[in-house]
Amino acid sequence: MVADRGLILRLLHGGQIVSGAEIARRLGVSRVMVHKDIRQLSAEGCRIEAVPRRGYRLLCWPDAPRPEVMDALWGGRGFPVRFLPETTSTNAAALSWAIEGAVEGATVTADHQTAGRGRRGRSWQDPPGESLLASIVLRPRLPVASLGWLPLAVGLGAARAVGATCGRTPELKWPNDLLLRGRKVGGVLLELALEEQEVRHAVAGIGVNVRQTALGAEIADSATSLRLALGYPGGRAELLAELVPQVLRAVRELEDDAPSLQGAWRAACTTLGRDVRLLGPQGEVHGRAVDVDALGRLVIEGPAGRQAFAAGDVSVRPAGGDAPDLA
Ligand code: BTN
Repeated sequence: MVADRGLILRLLHGGQIVSGAEIARRLGVSRVMVHKDIRQLSAEGCRIEAVPRRGYRLLCWPDAPRPEVMDALWGGRGFPVRFLPETTSTNAAALSWAIEGAVEGATVTADHQTAGRGRRGRSWQDPPGESLLASIVLRPRLPVASLGWLPLAVGLGAARAVGATCGRTPELKWPNDLLLRGRKVGGVLLELALEEQEVRHAVAGIGVNVRQTALGAEIADSATSLRLALGYPGGRAELLAELVPQVLRAVRELEDDAPSLQGAWRAACTTLGRDVRLLGPQGEVHGRAVDVDALGRLVIEGPAGRQAFAAGDVSVRPAGGDAPDLA
C-alpha cells in the first residue's frame, strides 16, 4: 500500500495529468484502489487535483518526509530515509543507524522530538509537525585537523538547500546558524565518532523552522520560520529533497577543494567584519570578527589582540550601538 502511494507520486511527479486507468495499469491494481490511495495521500497533506475525464494532477507534495514521498521526489535514485512520528532525538537515532552500517546520506527524520539536542548542551524544541528535523549520516574523508570546518560546511549546504527550495538563501552566523532577516530559522548540530584519528562516522543534525505561523514568546523576537519570513507555502519533504544532496555536496567540496568551500562560506557569513560579543566557555569577549581560521575557529580582534575561539554564542553589535542586536 505504501509502495503504491510512492509509485503514484512518482507517476505524477512532473505535474502532468495521468489517467486513473494508466495509474491502475502501472500499479497492477483496480481503479478503486487507486482512488483509495489518492484519498489517503490527500489525508497526508498532498494536493491532487482530479481533472474530469482526464485523470489526476499533483498540485502539492505531502508535507511529511516519509520514505515513499522522498523516494518519489528523488525519482527512486536517492537516499535511505527513516521517518519517526516521535523520537527523543533524530541525531541519536541516526548515530545508532550509522553504527549498524547506514550508508552516507541515510537520513532520519521525525515529526517531533521529545529531547531534541542543540549546540553547547542546550535543548532544541519543536512544535509537532512544523519543523524539518533531519539527521544525515556522513562518512567524511577528512583529517582530524580539518574537522572544525565540517559543521560549517553542513550549515552552508543547509543554507543552499533553503535557497534552492524557497528562492532566498539564508545568511550564516558563525558557527552554523541560518538567519533570515536577522532571525534564526535553523541550526546545525554535528556529532561524530572518531577511531584512531579517523572519523568512523558523523551525523549532521539539522533543524529548520518551516511551517510555524507563530513562535513561542521566548523566541518570538529572535527566531522565524520559512513560512513567516518568506511566505514559503511548501512542506518539509521538498526541503529535505534538496537538503540531503546539498549537504553531501558541501562536504565533498570541503574534502576536495577546501579553499573553495571556505570562500563560499565566508561570502555567506554575516559575522565576519562585524563588531561582536562572544559568550563562550572562557567568558565574554568583545571585538571585531576578522576571520575563521583553518580549524574553523572564529578569530576576534579585541583589546587583548587576536584570539581564536572554537565555541561560543555570537551576537553582532549594531554599528554605533552598545546593545547586541538579535542575530
Ligand atoms: C542549534 O543549537 O542551533 C543546533 C540545533 C540542531 C537541532 C537539530 S533538529 C534535528 C537534529 N536532532 C537533534 O536532536 N538535534 C538536531
